[in-house]
Amino acid sequence: MLTVGVESPTNIALIKYWGKHPKYEHLLVPTKSSVSFTIAGLHAKTLLKVESGKGEIEFHLNGKKIKETQSEFDYVRNFFDNISRSYKFTKDYRYEISSQNDFPTASGFASSAAGFSALAVAFAKAMTKLGNLPHLNERQLSVLARLGSGSAARSVPSRGGLVIWHRGFDNARSEAEASDLSYAETLYEPSYFSDLSVIYAKVESEQEKKTKSRAGMKESVRSVYDYWQWVDYEEKVLLPAILAAVREKSWGEMFRLTKQASNNFHAVCWRTDPPIIYLNDKSTEIMSTIQPLGYAAYTFDAGPNAVVFALRRNSEEVEERLKAIVGKGNTYRTEVGGGPKGVEL
Ligand code: DP6
Repeated sequence: MLTVGVESPTNIALIKYWGKHPKYEHLLVPTKSSVSFTIAGLHAKTLLKVESGKGEIEFHLNGKKIKETQSEFDYVRNFFDNISRSYKFTKDYRYEISSQNDFPTASGFASSAAGFSALAVAFAKAMTKLGNLPHLNERQLSVLARLGSGSAARSVPSRGGLVIWHRGFDNARSEAEASDLSYAETLYEPSYFSDLSVIYAKVESEQEKKTKSRAGMKESVRSVYDYWQWVDYEEKVLLPAILAAVREKSWGEMFRLTKQASNNFHAVCWRTDPPIIYLNDKSTEIMSTIQPLGYAAYTFDAGPNAVVFALRRNSEEVEERLKAIVGKGNTYRTEVGGGPKGVEL
């Protein structure tokens, strides 16, 4: 038996991933590229035990055994099914996965990105040790993580910081090429963002019932009448504009465009049939509080909790404003961080 441990960070997108290309849906190749910050202090720690078997999986999340009928188990099973298509030896082993989300409860976040990034890196390490795989480079590792959960691809690059996940399919002549070309890489290391802070604001009181990203984005691709127009605008206009703002360290411009991208994403969710409404009254209160500030930006994913980026010198004030909305003990301040690390056993 072999055990491998990996700790991997979560990430928050400035330009969102929301939809898989219909031709490559099973490979989790996205309709558009996305850009994210790797987050310090929010990570998943995953231990993977491997022994010979027939592809059996046992999965523990935060100390609890996940049943085969639970959706979390489905995601893990899908991941192993997906990788076994490229790596036949996957089915020659039995896997025991124990994943722990070390997220401050005040952040209100749980993340498949951190978990699948850690699992993919651990799987590759184990298979290299067992002699089934050569040493995979970071690009290959991010492709592997993508097969578990799209956003996990962006948590893989070891330098973390600002990461781009290329949609990749534009130049693909086959399915295999589309998959190989859709990977994530670091554009700027964390130290480039020493002027910035990241503040989490937890809005939801407990895990509310909400549409999961995987199901929600599928409905958006199917039913939003101008979905591909939005994709085109983000790919060709908004994403290059955000990268230009980062290159020039024009943080005000980066904040403005980040807010725009979050709003556009939630507008797409609203226009999905039936509509997907992730934001609640507290979320919109955060939006109207942060919107006029030139030194901060909000962004929301598939839920009502906010992540706010702010100039470090204004971050205390911004956190106070957020506390006034979500209450003390429901904010968590951190910064842009690095990528995955091995865990000593
Ligand atoms: C709103 O990566 O969770 O957070 O690929 O189906 O597992 P699957 O989806 P997932 O979707 C994340 C969506 C998002 C935006 C983002 O992180 O870019």
